[in-house]
Amino acid sequence: MDKIIVTGGTPLHGTIPVSGSKNACLPLMTAALLTDQPLTLTNVPNLADMKTMAALLESLGAVVTREPEANRAVIRVERLRSPLAHYDIVRKMRASILVLGPMLARDGAGTVSLPGGCAIGARPVDLHLKGLEAMGAVLDLRDGYVHASVPRSLHGGRLRGVSFRFPVVSVGATENLMMAATLAKGTTRLVNAAREPEIVDLADCLTAMGAQIEGAGTSTIEIEGVDALSGTDHAVIADRIEMGSFMIAPAITGGDVTVTGGRLSLVDTLAEAMQAAGISVEETPDGVRVSRANGSIKPVSFTTEPFPGFATDLQAQMMALMTLADGVSVIDEKIFENRFMHAPELTRMGANIAVDGGRATVTGVSGLRGAPVMATDLRASISLLLAGLAAEGETSVSRVYHLDRGYERVEEKLRACGARIERVRDDE
Ligand code: UD1
Repeated sequence: MDKIIVTGGTPLHGTIPVSGSKNACLPLMTAALLTDQPLTLTNVPNLADMKTMAALLESLGAVVTREPEANRAVIRVERLRSPLAHYDIVRKMRASILVLGPMLARDGAGTVSLPGGCAIGARPVDLHLKGLEAMGAVLDLRDGYVHASVPRSLHGGRLRGVSFRFPVVSVGATENLMMAATLAKGTTRLVNAAREPEIVDLADCLTAMGAQIEGAGTSTIEIEGVDALSGTDHAVIADRIEMGSFMIAPAITGGDVTVTGGRLSLVDTLAEAMQAAGISVEETPDGVRVSRANGSIKPVSFTTEPFPGFATDLQAQMMALMTLADGVSVIDEKIFENRFMHAPELTRMGANIAVDGGRATVTGVSGLRGAPVMATDLRASISLLLAGLAAEGETSVSRVYHLDRGYERVEEKLRACGARIERVRDDE
């Protein structure tokens, strides 16, 4: 297992390019299940999850040609050989559930392992299943698997369009049902749908494949089912979470960095919170420039919410910044339970954070000190790394495989801006 050693205290200066979005790419890859023609994706991030998703699709019958270094993948599913998503793959990556909607839409059958518990709370998949059931799928939960099929009596084994209201906003369930609906018989109306940019990116790709979708990016999406979809070429949107994470780097170290490849509208809410903290954030022709000369950081309280609210995936990073604020900030986590696992680790570095259920109260301190800390999930890991960049002395972040799930070449990107950071083998 690797660990990352950061020697803090250097203000970052320079440019950091943003990769393609992991969270957009995962559903886009599963969209290839909806057609027998090739789907070519570009701007694909070179991350472990892409490899895992490729392996899952291959196990279902896909031929996947990956060029990770060129950030490109071509996926072709001439036919679904085995509609079974095995536990061994699903347990590694919850997004595996996204193959269920497309498999049902394409062939009227699919079996997917139920994802296990997850470090950031229970994270059920009930909404995915309820929606597919409403579309006519018959589900049987046994042996840890969801066995789903569409009865032949229903339009010859084809899902039906329905009006479905999500009781809570879910990104994954919106994606799954939107994909399922593209090939259903009739019109599907998804109400209280997620509005995330990743949903819009998926809708754009599906539309290019021949789907009829209206309203993606709003809370009501209407999909008119078609008989077949074709292949297309699609460039994955920039990763707004990676972008936001790197925006914190100059803010926390007191530097000046332009994060390129994404646009400000992807990170509006974070930018507003950072500006309220006294950080300069401005749009440039190729990205966003963030700087903090030597002014203090003002405390900002915020609540995580579905898009366009403050992203739960940026909560840990903003918390790292708030540990150095001039006062008290209150952070309410409303999306996932148990998503403050970075708080005790930040505390080891000298932060003053009190967690009470879904609320964290952060009392800013004048400085952080390097310490050995442990990454517990993807976004917690980057927050520790960001804190390490600002801390005095050496911080070693262990279990960086979490980090590698979401950040491509992270040390290289930060080092290019002056960060003292290296990856070492951790033999403990
Ligand atoms: C996606 C992102 C993840 C991000 C999250 C919220 C991917 C691969 N992952 O995850 O990085 O943190 O959005 O922005 O895109 N819920 C249910 N039942 C369900 C589904 C969800 O109760 O069937 C609940 C969840 O427990 C959670 C909330 O709905 O409280 C939002 O979850 P959801 O938007 O579905 O997250 P993911 O799509 O899994």
